Amino acid sequence: MIQLRNHLPSGEVRNWKLREIVEGQPLGHPSHALVVHFPVAYYIAVLSFDIMTRVATFPTLVLAGTFLIIGAFAGSAIAVPTGLVDWWQMAKGSAKRRKATQHLLLQLTTFGVFLVALILRWPHRHQAQASISWIVVEAIGVSTLVVGQYLGGILVYQMAMRVRTTRRSEPRSASPAATPPATLGGPASTPMPPAGESAP
Ligand code: HEM
Repeated sequence: MIQLRNHLPSGEVRNWKLREIVEGQPLGHPSHALVVHFPVAYYIAVLSFDIMTRVATFPTLVLAGTFLIIGAFAGSAIAVPTGLVDWWQMAKGSAKRRKATQHLLLQLTTFGVFLVALILRWPHRHQAQASISWIVVEAIGVSTLVVGQYLGGILVYQMAMRVRTTRRSEPRSASPAATPPATLGGPASTPMPPAGESAP
């Protein structure tokens, strides 16, 4: 449920800080995972559209794909700060931060590759068929994207980054076995064992 104000375990109620809003704390779940679908889907759609123009006649798909790249950049403009705010708080030198840095670099590379694709295709955006060179560049971009997504998945599902093991209303001291949450309600740099090992 959306929380308009931050209810601290101490009972104090205060306004959310900007960082907490960007993290998605008022929503009760990370905002990064919420927004990343847009650039991911758009980048893959651009490549699919261009391939489609080579196998059949779709006169407007090149134009649609060109604007989808701009849409992917708009989605990334939200995905990047929500990812960076989490990355910033991770313990320097930790395995999680190293994995997140690799993820970050791959996502930035994807952006750079699609920027090249956009520059190449913009003057030809009204033509009916995609150029093979754009398809090659976009295939490289989708490859770096997919590896980056894989690392993001490893971070969340294997390394338990930002997985809460206590409920918001549950005080941290409720159970001696309870582990502090990774970010929501606690510092992101808190070392966390893989999900399931410590959660009651
Ligand atoms: C460049 C700056 C970025 C940084 C620093 C960053 C950082 C992170 C971090 C720390 C996580 C762990 C989970 C979390 O904190 O919510 C994560 C997960 C993830 N990121 Fe990023 N990210 C960035 C950009 C992106 C972009 C642009 C995309 C999409 C194109 C993306 C897709 C993902 C995905 C799919 C996950 C896994 C989420 C899940 O399955 O719950 N990230 N990222």
